[in-house]
Amino acid sequence: MQEIKIERTTAPKPRDYDEHKLGFGDIFTDHMFVMDYYEGKGWVDARIVPYGPIPLDPAAMVLHYAQEVFEGMKAYRRADGKIQLFRPERNFARLNLSNERLCIPKVDEAFCLEALKKLVEIDADWVPSLEGTSLYIRPFIIAVDPHLGVRPANHLMLIIILSPVGAYYPEGLNPVKIYVEKNYVRAVKGGMGFTKTGGNYAASLKAQDEAHDQNYTQVLWLDGVERRYIEEVGTMNVFFKIDGEVVTPALEGSILGGITRASCIEILKSWGVPVSERRLAIDELYAAYEAGKLEEAFGSGTAAVISPIGELKWGDKIMTINNGEIGPLSQKLYDTLTGIQWGKLEDTFHWTCPID
Ligand code: COI
Repeated sequence: MQEIKIERTTAPKPRDYDEHKLGFGDIFTDHMFVMDYYEGKGWVDARIVPYGPIPLDPAAMVLHYAQEVFEGMKAYRRADGKIQLFRPERNFARLNLSNERLCIPKVDEAFCLEALKKLVEIDADWVPSLEGTSLYIRPFIIAVDPHLGVRPANHLMLIIILSPVGAYYPEGLNPVKIYVEKNYVRAVKGGMGFTKTGGNYAASLKAQDEAHDQNYTQVLWLDGVERRYIEEVGTMNVFFKIDGEVVTPALEGSILGGITRASCIEILKSWGVPVSERRLAIDELYAAYEAGKLEEAFGSGTAAVISPIGELKWGDKIMTINNGEIGPLSQKLYDTLTGIQWGKLEDTFHWTCPID
């Protein structure tokens, strides 16, 4: 394994924020991890350096053609003060899946995990301890060679930054209102929907803006071909409890394979709750709603954790789910998942990864 050079900051930032008021993604720690890729040399020059701006040529390819991938994971402060990650090896495996689709050279997953642990250890004081808070970890790779022709880059940078966070949605664990998108699409099979790349999120902004104008938190995407099958909510995967069975859209190429999604499925199965990964049409969901069989709905994601859905608007039809309140299964899943993540429950699945 290559050596990681460490340059510690001589000017640590004051950690003068109120943990009760931590939002999402505005505060950054003292250090970051950086590594370069050069054609012919591979990934080299691994280093932990003071957090700060990076020099970027205005012709850097990422600025023009968006050759970029990213990940999102979290470090949690346990009650005993120790810090742990949640299934981080899955994030680096998914990073390589995204890399493959975007012609980005693969990274050494085990090395990246070691580098991340070192970085979190150095910035350990930034991991918040209040219930519901964590240290959000954002690894990303950008194409940096200055070149205006369209081709895969020869020089890329992998950077990992850290951000102490609270809840992603201001609603916290209160149910969100979601708008079913009819006009815009996020991704199609054969495209990049299954990857974590910035372009997928850029594609979602217009719809999100219009949903906000109508007082909805996010949009629910339908498939790009028939505009009928439920896909995901842009920043999270979705689950519906219909007549006792939990249904989530199958991963068929246009949906992100969420690690929280996979964990929810495993937890539900361990409880003996029937779970099905399949195509679910919006009209089927509405029919279930009308028949009184749509019992709960929630989103899952690293940032969003478990986010109950209290209302869905599909055209002129409004579905109010579980009286706009969090359902018992969503609550139990939230308690179990966060219980494991914050080290309050025994990790029978072996998902957590200690930092020290
Ligand atoms: C995450 O849940 O980690 C995400 O990456 C969603 C996001 C774009 C904040």
